[in-house]
Amino acid sequence: MDLKLKGKRVFISGSTSGIGFATAKLFAREGASIILNGRTEASVSNAVDAVKTEIFGANVSGIVADFAQKTSVDSLLNQLNSIDILINNVGVFASQSFYDTPDEDWFRMLEINVMSGVRLSRALFPEMLRKKWGRVIFISSECAQLVPPDLLAYSATKASLHAVSRGLAQMAKGTEVTVNTVMPGSTLSEGAERFLEEAATKQHTSKEAVTTDFFKNVRTPSLLQRFLTVEEIASTIVYLCSEKAVGINGSTVKIDGGSTGGVF
Ligand SMILES: NC(=O)c1ccc[n+]([C@@H]2O[C@H](COP(=O)([O-])OP(=O)(O)OC[C@H]3O[C@@H](n4cnc5c(N)ncnc54)[C@H](OP(=O)(O)O)[C@@H]3O)[C@@H](O)[C@H]2O)c1
Repeated sequence: MDLKLKGKRVFISGSTSGIGFATAKLFAREGASIILNGRTEASVSNAVDAVKTEIFGANVSGIVADFAQKTSVDSLLNQLNSIDILINNVGVFASQSFYDTPDEDWFRMLEINVMSGVRLSRALFPEMLRKKWGRVIFISSECAQLVPPDLLAYSATKASLHAVSRGLAQMAKGTEVTVNTVMPGSTLSEGAERFLEEAATKQHTSKEAVTTDFFKNVRTPSLLQRFLTVEEIASTIVYLCSEKAVGINGSTVKIDGGSTGGVF
């Protein structure tokens, strides 16, 4: 299937590893031109090199920017232009009690998880509307719907992305600009691996035992009963950005292994 992504310019926030990096590689294989992003020169140049090594002829570059710092984001926005496809992927979480989550942590998560996509969209959306073609994807989480109590702040930031995304889609009425939200379930990114390793150390057990316990006792409703791979999320993101997916707009696409339930 020709996804007609050749030559499209793609920016993916937080893409030196995990879901963002897997998505970048799939776009590169489709002949798109990719701009990666991370917080350090080293992580960005390593990721750019890794894509070039793995995919012959890949058109890939990178911009260092930290979405926790507005000045850093302003500098990033000055360097971005003519983006056809924007993937608002960057997101951070912290497992903590509601009572032990200070304002600073709430604001940090709002800044990185929500304002990243707001600021990027505000800068890049008008040109998509002028060209009457564009794709914007917001990466939410199953937590937006499940709202685990130890991830309340994270879940609240992810839930708000659905409103931002739907609102932007409505602003693009009559064009072929689409805006959608992807809702991944628990996915084995490097970040998730670290989380499992830390939990195993704390509980004096193995990563495998923590994983088994997670699906048996925490993510019980998961039908898949395993972590999704980053590639399983990336393939849907890339498809949603293709010409073929123009009819999917203002929607939430769940890739959650069935964890959030419901028939719609
Ligand atoms: N993994 C899951 O189970 C899961 C489930 C549902 C939803 N999600 C969502 O999917 C998205 C990707 O998750 P992931 O697990 O793939 O992420 P991850 O492995 O934790 O992602 C790390 C990436 O984010 C970048 N990053 C972190 N903080 C940043 C900041 N302040 N500014 C710029 N870049 C930053 C890192 O760049 P550097 O290290 O190079 O700075 C790296 O490229 C997130 O929005 C997450 O909430 C994940």
